[in-house]
Amino acid sequence: MKQFDQNVTDVIGNTPIIKLQKIGKELESEIYVKLEFMNPGGSIKDRIGSYIVEQAVKRGDLKPGGTIIEGTSGNTGVGLAIYSAIHGYKCIFVMADKQSKEKVDTLKAFGAKVIVCPTEVDPKDPRSYYSVSARLAEATPNSFYVNQYDNFDNRDTHYYQTGPEIYEQTKGEFDVFMTGVGTGGTISGIGRYLKEKMDHVQIVGVDVEGSVLANYKKTGRIENYHSYLMEGLGEDMIPKNIDWDIIDDFVTIGDKEGFLMTRRILQEEGIYAGGSSGGAVCAAIKYAKSLKEPKKILVVLPDSANRYISKIFSDDWMASKGLLDYHHNIVIKDLLTKLNKKDKEFVSITESCCVEEAINLMNDNDVSQIPVVSKGEIIGVVTEKDLLNPLFEGGLALTDFVSVAYNQDFLIADEDQRLEEVYQSLVDKKIALVKRGDEIINVLTHIDILNFIARLDK
Ligand SMILES: Cc1ncc(COP(=O)(O)O)c(C=O)c1O
Repeated sequence: MKQFDQNVTDVIGNTPIIKLQKIGKELESEIYVKLEFMNPGGSIKDRIGSYIVEQAVKRGDLKPGGTIIEGTSGNTGVGLAIYSAIHGYKCIFVMADKQSKEKVDTLKAFGAKVIVCPTEVDPKDPRSYYSVSARLAEATPNSFYVNQYDNFDNRDTHYYQTGPEIYEQTKGEFDVFMTGVGTGGTISGIGRYLKEKMDHVQIVGVDVEGSVLANYKKTGRIENYHSYLMEGLGEDMIPKNIDWDIIDDFVTIGDKEGFLMTRRILQEEGIYAGGSSGGAVCAAIKYAKSLKEPKKILVVLPDSANRYISKIFSDDWMASKGLLDYHHNIVIKDLLTKLNKKDKEFVSITESCCVEEAINLMNDNDVSQIPVVSKGEIIGVVTEKDLLNPLFEGGLALTDFVSVAYNQDFLIADEDQRLEEVYQSLVDKKIALVKRGDEIINVLTHIDILNFIARLDK
């Protein structure tokens, strides 16, 4: 049993790589994922937690019994807390208030002190989590401020450990390495190692809408920041750890597509990974679609789903943020696409057709209302109800023109409107003519909504 005489930091790393089996199957490229949530603390940040503190101790920056201080989105805190538990350091962590409650509770469970700061302030604001951590570090005797953003031991961890590990596992038999960029440690360290070993490798960063990073790579300007929900990806400032020269390209994803992919990864592949992992897979699929020839893409999945159970995996939370494709949020054009209802392929009838033709059309196409067209313009709708009573009472003949039997009680909706906005009118009026600009391109009826709801979760 001698081989087991080790502590939990000794089993950090050597995480498995697997190929996605279902997601992205339609692509010619192959997507492989490295499961960093299988580290003891549940994330890739276990690696830097140990390495950075070891280096600080070696340099004499941290003495026995000292206090480790860090601004962290949670995962780095766990990595540091694991190391501290074993080696007897105290921890104070400063977090932004958008981080999940699970992350705060997890750090407290390690015995760390956690200070929560507002997300919506400038990084230079004294209340920001960058400023608060730096101030605390100055005020606390025998403390070490980790500063994963600017401390190069962050990227060195990945240059000396994760990069070689990936190369050994794969023998370099892949073409593209993709990973989310936050502090930049992961992409810069692994990316540099891989570039030294593999002439052809492309290093592609994943950023999130609202972050300044991908745009900075293109323009050299820090601009257009807006807040987003994704944790771990992107920044509102430029960390020193990002080595811009080794990043060949960026793919940017949105909160919604990233979170929905996180759910799919769990439900379709059984992979228990967090939000930034969904974001990274989403980006890999976008990247694969942009390629002219098939490639093997290796993607890092940084952390675990268990940190997001009350958020990404909660229908209530997702719906409250407008992130679920439930009936209320769906935009009409997306609904029509989902139902495969193509532009201008709806059934219509000209006003000079007779009532019997209208009945036949309803029968053949299984619809209960048909737009009536005159000189290329829709002038009304003929419905089962418009025909039934007058035919039954004898006021209308099968040979009469439709022009005497239509009504104008229809709704006009724009394809960019959300279903929620027109739903009640549609219930009353039974049919909506959907327009793009001034042109009617489709129709929407009760059965379409029912079909859409029936297909929602399929
Ligand atoms: C969940 C998660 N994903 C991705 C990243 C990005 O990695 P890096 O900071 O090395 O750029 C982070 C960073 O905090 C993270 O917590």
